Amino acid sequence: MNLKPLLAGLLCMAYATSYGQYNTLHIPDTLSGTTFNLNMIDTFVQFRPGNQTITAGINGAFWGPTLFINKGDSLHMNVHNLMNDTTTLHWHGMHLPAVMDGGPHQTIPPGTIWRPYWKVTNNATTFWYHPHLHMSTEKQLLAGLGGFIIIRDAAEAALALPRTYGVDDIPLAVSSRSFDASNAFTNTSPYGDYNMVNGTLNPQVSLPKQFVRLRILNIELERGLNIGFSDNRNFYVIGNDGGLLDAPIIVNRAKLMVGERMEILVDLSSDAVGSSFDLMAYNAGFPLGFPGGEPNASGPFGSLLNNINYKVLHINVAAATTGAITTLPTTLVSNTTLTAADATVTRTLNVTGTPGTPFYFDNVNFNINTINETVKLGTIEKWTVKNNNVFGHSFHIHDVQFKIVSRSTGAVSTYESGWKDTYYLGIGETVSFVAKFDDYADATHPFMYHCHMAPHEDGGLMGQFIVNDATGINELTQELGDYNVYPNPTKDHIFFSFSNPNMVAYYVTITNAVGRTIYMLPYPQLAAGIDVSSFAPGIYYVQLTDEATKKVITKKFIKE
Ligand code: C2O
Ligand code: CU
Repeated sequence: MNLKPLLAGLLCMAYATSYGQYNTLHIPDTLSGTTFNLNMIDTFVQFRPGNQTITAGINGAFWGPTLFINKGDSLHMNVHNLMNDTTTLHWHGMHLPAVMDGGPHQTIPPGTIWRPYWKVTNNATTFWYHPHLHMSTEKQLLAGLGGFIIIRDAAEAALALPRTYGVDDIPLAVSSRSFDASNAFTNTSPYGDYNMVNGTLNPQVSLPKQFVRLRILNIELERGLNIGFSDNRNFYVIGNDGGLLDAPIIVNRAKLMVGERMEILVDLSSDAVGSSFDLMAYNAGFPLGFPGGEPNASGPFGSLLNNINYKVLHINVAAATTGAITTLPTTLVSNTTLTAADATVTRTLNVTGTPGTPFYFDNVNFNINTINETVKLGTIEKWTVKNNNVFGHSFHIHDVQFKIVSRSTGAVSTYESGWKDTYYLGIGETVSFVAKFDDYADATHPFMYHCHMAPHEDGGLMGQFIVNDATGINELTQELGDYNVYPNPTKDHIFFSFSNPNMVAYYVTITNAVGRTIYMLPYPQLAAGIDVSSFAPGIYYVQLTDEATKKVITKKFIKE
């Protein structure tokens, strides 16, 4: 378990006067390479004096490791659900086949290993991974499940940008929590009372006297953040959800809704070593509709952080590092543009609901068995989302990165002019975006679009779309074949032989004799066999779903 919060908590009690109320910001561990082992566990953390808090983590006690990946690599994920609850793990922002997406359809039962894999085609940026089980997303996010993904590529590597992780390149997953009398997390209000970054309450960090890069991710359940600094200094937005901008955009404030990321550069070169300032949420003065703008400090939507300006991160200025970045790049990358004129298909979604009734798209509750939209592979589409006059939302769509082309409330801010997958949909606002639905068609597994505020998403403000191949027709083009599993019995691997060489395994599930799922393997690569050497001796069942017909054939094998 992670002792850092405990140690920081003890330090803070012992040295309250000399150290203030701050705890040292936790920087998540890192994993790199092309195979990632992610173990989702039920665990606990000593956040404050008294009882430990029950949490969930990935390879740790709260939140997960930062995955460093390279554009162009083929990744293999071993997601092992060691928790007592079913879950899923979604790669937020990633362009990949729907069956690998980790949305509500790719449920991982307790004890099961899910093995998606894909080739990374996204540009250098900051993504994140998190559970996405319908109606349990709020609960599992609250427990602490999730982690950063940092993608690198050649275009980003060629730029003089800060990129020493934890030194001048800092990931900040911003949230808040409330505790009950026994220190359990509570969500009677979706807005926590105490600011928390990377799982650290009231965090502080030392940053060198130079340009530093902050990768800010809003992982609140619902609250929006109006980001700024306590001395009102300007900062430079260099990246949106899906990659770097063409050039840094200078701002003083920038809004960041749940699920959104923003990469910024902050210039500390004129700060004195030993001085300090704060990264702030300037959330005071927002009218109702801005999430967290509610006036009440307690009650169903109450929070001690509602409608106030509060410290997100206390920053202590330290000496510059060798190789410090001291100048702001004038240009970054050259992005292709997508405009409204490029779109050949348009769609409109209306957020509906009245005070006291749930938010839905077009008055329809999310139904996991209903495909709401069908998109033809390769099409550029314009989607317009119209909000009602009840509350703001954070709209997110899977599969694609898009460009926001219009906001009914005024011009699209330059700081959100890059590739996006999530955006603020203000109260009464209409926002349009343009995206190309490329590469991955699947007539069975859909992608999701939804409000990223967990209570809204769990409450049904979600829909799903499938991307069909060019014909738009899902013909059953081939007869279902048969297959055998060999050797049987086996000691270490099973191999597959197909009666029809054109047969493609869409999905393989292995269950044990009492029906518990062991492996879930989307589009398994079967040439090298499946390693079953870790299985206990006994009887197992392979259920193979055929790509063309989606029919399932079950075979039995014996592990010696
Ligand atoms: Cu961050 Cu549908 O998810
Ligand atoms: Cu919402």
